[in-house]
Amino acid sequence: MQYWGKSFSYLPLEGPVKLKNPDITLCYIEYYGLNPNSIPEEPYEYFFGRWIADGQRELIQKLSLKTRKFIGNTSMDPQLSLIMANQAQIRKGDLVFDPFVGTGSLLIAASQFGGYTFGTDIDFLMLHGRTRPTRISQKTREKDESIAANMHQYGMSSYYLDVVVADFSYPLWRTDLRIDAIITDPPYGIREATERIGTMKTNPVIEEHQATSHIPSKIGYGLNQIYKDLLCFSARHLKLDGRLVCWYPLFRDQYTEDQLPAHPCLELLANSEQILSNYTSRRLLTYKKIKEPEATDESIIMNLTDFREKYFALREETRKEKRTRKATERARRREEWERSNKEVTER
Ligand SMILES: C[S@@+](CC[C@H](N)C(=O)[O-])C[C@H]1O[C@@H](n2cnc3c(N)ncnc32)[C@H](O)[C@@H]1O
Repeated sequence: MQYWGKSFSYLPLEGPVKLKNPDITLCYIEYYGLNPNSIPEEPYEYFFGRWIADGQRELIQKLSLKTRKFIGNTSMDPQLSLIMANQAQIRKGDLVFDPFVGTGSLLIAASQFGGYTFGTDIDFLMLHGRTRPTRISQKTREKDESIAANMHQYGMSSYYLDVVVADFSYPLWRTDLRIDAIITDPPYGIREATERIGTMKTNPVIEEHQATSHIPSKIGYGLNQIYKDLLCFSARHLKLDGRLVCWYPLFRDQYTEDQLPAHPCLELLANSEQILSNYTSRRLLTYKKIKEPEATDESIIMNLTDFREKYFALREETRKEKRTRKATERARRREEWERSNKEVTER
């Protein structure tokens, strides 16, 4: 075998070449750059290696939101969901949890790699498939829209444990519950509310006759607190070497690594940016649990600016700017019109 005048004879390859059902497949790749209008005579790079696995890009199409039975306004697209499941290194038999499960897109991705999945969400209507339909063409939700129906659609029912309507800010699970991976997209408070159960009243009392029909009131659940709870929960409930993969929103010009949520039991392994607008982006964070928490490990060193407050303040600012610009333009046009009218009548 030859490449660019050189030969592979130095490799200790023995035995016959089997083109049908080979025991191993060796690949030779030449890299000519990325510009189709300027292809060099000789490749920039040569790669030679053993084929170790097939990609699974067809899963992106298979899990498309366009054909998924149950979706919501914040359903995570399949490509990103699959990346999250990959980052979490989900393997067959793993226990995988999403505390802000929504329509369960991340559970679907995790199940593709053999993860047994469960989740929680505070939104009763969402988990019961009773929110307003997301598709414009759909007037009402179908009766059987749910995460379970999605899992059934993809033949993954056996990897679906269940979901529970629950507020993540309150402890729900046994303290000895251990999870292999947590993958989640917490609410940023932009397209969905960041809320938890609570009241501003000092001594709230629920009368006995109200007890059975009482719907608890909600208060704000700030982003700082959400990430603090998420990292503490992960430190407590992940197995050693287990991974937390989550998105984290921020203002691009303010990004520094010390702004990212941190916990002494969690090592930050990866941190990649997805740009959302001129000002904002979100980062996909991958943490690995490196030790069991001690009492002193509970606090998190963080320096978060409140994304939600700043986001709306900035929008308010740009709306104001837009209004002022339009008013100035109107005034200029009126002045021009009055001036030209005056010229016509004077002639
Ligand atoms: C960005 S969405 C998650 C979307 C989800 N990844 C999907 O693909 O559908 C965040 C979810 O967090 C839920 N949430 C907000 N506050 C919560 C809380 N205190 N406890 C649990 N879930 C909460 C919201 O109802 C919402 O469904």
